[in-house]
Amino acid sequence: MRQTPAPIKVQPSRTVRSLAEDVLDGLFEPPRHLPPKYFYDAHGSRLFDAICQTPEYYPTRTEMALLSRHAAEIVQLAGPTVIVELGSGSGAKASLLIGACAAQDRQVCYAPFDVCADVLTESGLALQREFPWLNVAPLVGDFTAGLEHFPLPAGRRLLMCLGGTIGNFTEGDARDFLSEVCALMHEDDYLLLGADRVKSPALLHAAYNDRRGVTAQFNLNVLSVLNAELGADFDLANFEHRACYNEAAQRIEMYLDSVVDQLVGFPELGRTLELQAGESILTEISRKFSDESLQALLHGAGLRVARHFESSPPLFSLVLATRAGN
Ligand code: SAH
Ligand code: TRP
Repeated sequence: MRQTPAPIKVQPSRTVRSLAEDVLDGLFEPPRHLPPKYFYDAHGSRLFDAICQTPEYYPTRTEMALLSRHAAEIVQLAGPTVIVELGSGSGAKASLLIGACAAQDRQVCYAPFDVCADVLTESGLALQREFPWLNVAPLVGDFTAGLEHFPLPAGRRLLMCLGGTIGNFTEGDARDFLSEVCALMHEDDYLLLGADRVKSPALLHAAYNDRRGVTAQFNLNVLSVLNAELGADFDLANFEHRACYNEAAQRIEMYLDSVVDQLVGFPELGRTLELQAGESILTEISRKFSDESLQALLHGAGLRVARHFESSPPLFSLVLATRAGN
């Protein structure tokens, strides 16, 4: 079995705010908000995996089923020598595509890119146990910091962004991000994009408010990250998880609500955060797409749909796209 090398750091192509700057900018006045990338420390990544296994969280199993069904066709069409995954997480989805490559006698290497170094180590181990011949070349960094210096491996690439992660960007940021992905692509490269679909609000509500409270723990964990990284003194018991579907905006909005009037110290920043009972912090959006809004997003980013796989009923979509004008 091969050893996964240590991740290579992807250099940002524009300056992004530090955690302290994001907190000063986002938390101290309404509308209070935090970027979602801070969810994913080692514990947060484990909690995210647990969310994926809750009975209510349909996206993971729906996307996995789509991948199982169509992996052979995707691999046949894209003919990758390299699979690059943006926001790779556990790597469980990549495993299905790597398996399909193996079944077609295709040598492929895997370059997972994630902000969480621990998840890269774990997924590398798991994949190399499953595929002892596989070359894994992990990359660590922030995909919101630009992809200009992304060390894209040579060869014919299949880029992937799965799990509905594209929905965690605002409309403009999603288009900009996909445009940057598109700029990386050569003529015969493909992008496989997973996108969650507009559906019954009740189903959506359940998916982001699982009964066992795993999503609540995941949401609250961002406060532990601020405690650990910035020496803040959040008491997690003073906050409640809330996720609701904003039908007009076609997106889930996830908040942490302050349940009491409270002061939160940030000694390292020399600041104190004052929150009233009922005030909330927006921690995540998860946009849901119609056929039309998904097409518009891809076109706006300079991509052309080669195949669109959707579950029936259409709970989730997988789109295989190439650069437009090919
Ligand atoms: N693709 C996986 C995981 C989705 S969760 C799946 O479908 O199950 C989103 C993943 O993106 C997490 O692994 C998280 O660590 C990573 N991520 C979140 N923000 C990121 C950022 N700004 N840069 C790089 N990776 C990020
Ligand atoms: N990309 C996932 C989604 O939008 C992220 C996610 C799922 C998530 N459940 C969450 C993020 C709960 C924060 C909290 O579905």
